[in-house]
Amino acid sequence: MGSLVKFRRPLVFFTHWLVLSLSDNRISGLIPPELGNCSDLEVLELRSNSLTGHMPADLSHLSNLNVLDLGINNLTGELPEEVSKCSLLKSLLVDANHLSGSIPDSLSNLSNLTVLDLSSNNLSGEIPANLTGISGLVYFNISSNNLDGEIPVLLGSRFNDPSAFANNQDLCGKPLGRKCENITDKNRRKRLIMLIVIVASGASLLALCCCFYIFSLLRWRKKLKEGAAAEKKHSPARASSRTSGGRGSTDNGGPKLVMFNNKITLAETAEATRQFDEENVLSRTRYGLVFKACYNDGTVLSIRRLPDGSLDENIFRKEAEFLGKVKHRNLTVLRGYYAGSPDLRLLVFDYMPNGNLATLLQEASHQDGHVLNWPMRHLIALGIARGLSFLHTSNMVHGDLKPQNVLFDADFEAHLSDFGLDRLTVPTPAEASSSTTSVGTLGYVSPEAVLTGETTKESDVYSFGIVLLELLTGKRPLMFTQDEDIVKWVKKQLQKGQITELLEPGLLELDPESSEWEEFLLGVKVGLLCTAPDPLDRPTMSDIVFMLEGCRVGPDIPSSADPTSQPSPA
Ligand SMILES: *[C@@H]1O[C@H](CO)[C@@H](O)[C@H](O)[C@H]1NC(C)=O
Ligand SMILES: *[C@@H]1O[C@H](CO)[C@@H](O)[C@H](O)[C@H]1NC(C)=O
Ligand SMILES: *[C@@H]1O[C@H](CO)[C@@H](O)[C@H](O)[C@H]1NC(C)=O
Ligand SMILES: *[C@@H]1O[C@H](CO)[C@@H](O)[C@H](O)[C@H]1NC(C)=O
Ligand SMILES: *[C@@H]1O[C@H](CO)[C@@H](O)[C@H](O)[C@H]1NC(C)=O
Ligand SMILES: *[C@@H]1O[C@H](CO)[C@@H](O)[C@H](O)[C@H]1NC(C)=O
Ligand SMILES: *[C@@H]1O[C@H](CO)[C@@H](O)[C@H](O)[C@H]1NC(C)=O
Ligand SMILES: *[C@@H]1O[C@H](CO)[C@@H](O)[C@H](O)[C@H]1NC(C)=O
Repeated sequence: MGSLVKFRRPLVFFTHWLVLSLSDNRISGLIPPELGNCSDLEVLELRSNSLTGHMPADLSHLSNLNVLDLGINNLTGELPEEVSKCSLLKSLLVDANHLSGSIPDSLSNLSNLTVLDLSSNNLSGEIPANLTGISGLVYFNISSNNLDGEIPVLLGSRFNDPSAFANNQDLCGKPLGRKCENITDKNRRKRLIMLIVIVASGASLLALCCCFYIFSLLRWRKKLKEGAAAEKKHSPARASSRTSGGRGSTDNGGPKLVMFNNKITLAETAEATRQFDEENVLSRTRYGLVFKACYNDGTVLSIRRLPDGSLDENIFRKEAEFLGKVKHRNLTVLRGYYAGSPDLRLLVFDYMPNGNLATLLQEASHQDGHVLNWPMRHLIALGIARGLSFLHTSNMVHGDLKPQNVLFDADFEAHLSDFGLDRLTVPTPAEASSSTTSVGTLGYVSPEAVLTGETTKESDVYSFGIVLLELLTGKRPLMFTQDEDIVKWVKKQLQKGQITELLEPGLLELDPESSEWEEFLLGVKVGLLCTAPDPLDRPTMSDIVFMLEGCRVGPDIPSSADPTSQPSPA
């Protein structure tokens, strides 16, 4: 224990002091405002004393202050907003005092801050959302206060340790177990549905996958044979009755969906989706809702219901017939459609039982990456690249590539979805007026597409690069702040030589000496090439397929899961 000292006034402080460190003494009394005169002071440590009273606002004059540590004292009053004028501050520790009032949102002005410990006080109110803006923050603790409201999402995911937020009566959101009431209803619902899909498919998959697969393959073959036979019998008449589909035809009771391969009625589809019930929604996109449809004969399909008031019926039919011809094993292939009474527009796709890449990555990061090893990540990347490359050689642009639009079939083969749909819908007035919202998704859309409001093959390549980097590093593009993005971050790690930082701990268990590690690095470099700022510097998708195929030596590339699919063009 140190000596018993009491700060008294008048007290002479030497204004040229750089460091004042009197931690672990028994200094009592007030913090003298005159300290503010020591404008050269870089470190002020009075931790673990018996200081009382307020934190003086004069501390704001300490414009060179790097470290302010007043933890474990008996300070009262508010945390003065003026502290945020100490713009070089790197560490601010006032834990274990009796400070009250709210956390000033001006703290976000402290752009150099790396340590912020406000724990064990009596602070109230909400956590200012713009604390998220302090990009260098590495330690953050606000536990044991009186704070309430929702933990800002980005902050919660950056400091994913409940103990940093614990013991606040009314705080909710991630990483605390407590959910926020009615704020994120929609997200929760989505998460729930995804969870159910994953759990259900995971459980049933293991048991049923093999036999079901064989069974459906056999059935499909039979149908194909029957279909071919029927086709031969009366092909001309059939073709015309198909395309006139919809409203009028009643030969088997009720309107039919136009299926490229077999017959399904609208009534069956309504039943299979339980009258388009919310419970059956698989996803919501700007191109309408996607439903899981379980038919009585055991077929499961995915039905997209386009927003009402859509395109003219004849144009819709033409575009749907066109889209139905775009077939590749890494695309979700359109199997049929319906256009009919009042403004109902349906698109039929294969059901993808294994969810999407976004959920897969999320699951993987929760399970320390064991579910997704490097060969699987490589295969997924290659699948996406092949799908996109095929679209590009068919002169189509995806326009909104992101992990949510990468779906997995029963064999975990990647299928791109949500392409070609803008030609099947009429833009809503909101989209039409602000074109920037109609291109892509924040975090994945290329900078030039945001500027021009137009997506191109090159902007698809950029989005692919971001998805690839996310797939390889597990870092989410939206986790970054304005000054940094995933591309800059990866580059920085490579330049600093901190390559192991590219991997989340346990995410990918690669030995830095192994050949897999070299392959991984090659993948990262392909991602960087794709995200070159100048669109002209980016490789084409077929180059990328070539590079990704070359970046792994081992046996790869299983045979196609779907006999209707066509080989990759590359
Ligand atoms: C020190 O600060 C006090 C008020 O905080 C001020 O009155 C005084 O003039 C300052 N002294 C010097 C030497 O700057
Ligand atoms: C704070 O003050 C209380 C009495 O008001 C005292 O019991 C306690 O030891 C003090 N804490 C510190 C760290 O000085
Ligand atoms: C913090 O964000 C709020 C609105 O979200 C804004 O009004 C305020 O100016 C921001 N404060 C700082 C210091 O950036
Ligand atoms: C924080 O920064 C903003 C903008 O740079 C400025 O307007 C505001 O006054 C600052 N707040 C404080 C408390 O320094
Ligand atoms: C600290 O902030 C200053 C300006 O506020 C900036 O120039 C400097 O780069 C920052 N240092 C670090 C390490 O962030
Ligand atoms: C904490 O602050 C509240 C008011 O915000 C006050 O009622 C309460 O007494 C304070 N508790 C302590 C331990 O200072
Ligand atoms: C936050 O502070 C509390 C109390 O000081 C401590 O128990 C906890 O471990 C800290 N959490 C983190 C993440 O440092
Ligand atoms: C949350 O619920 C309260 C009433 O229970 C309601 O007043 C408020 O508008 C709701 N907030 C949101 C974001 O739905």
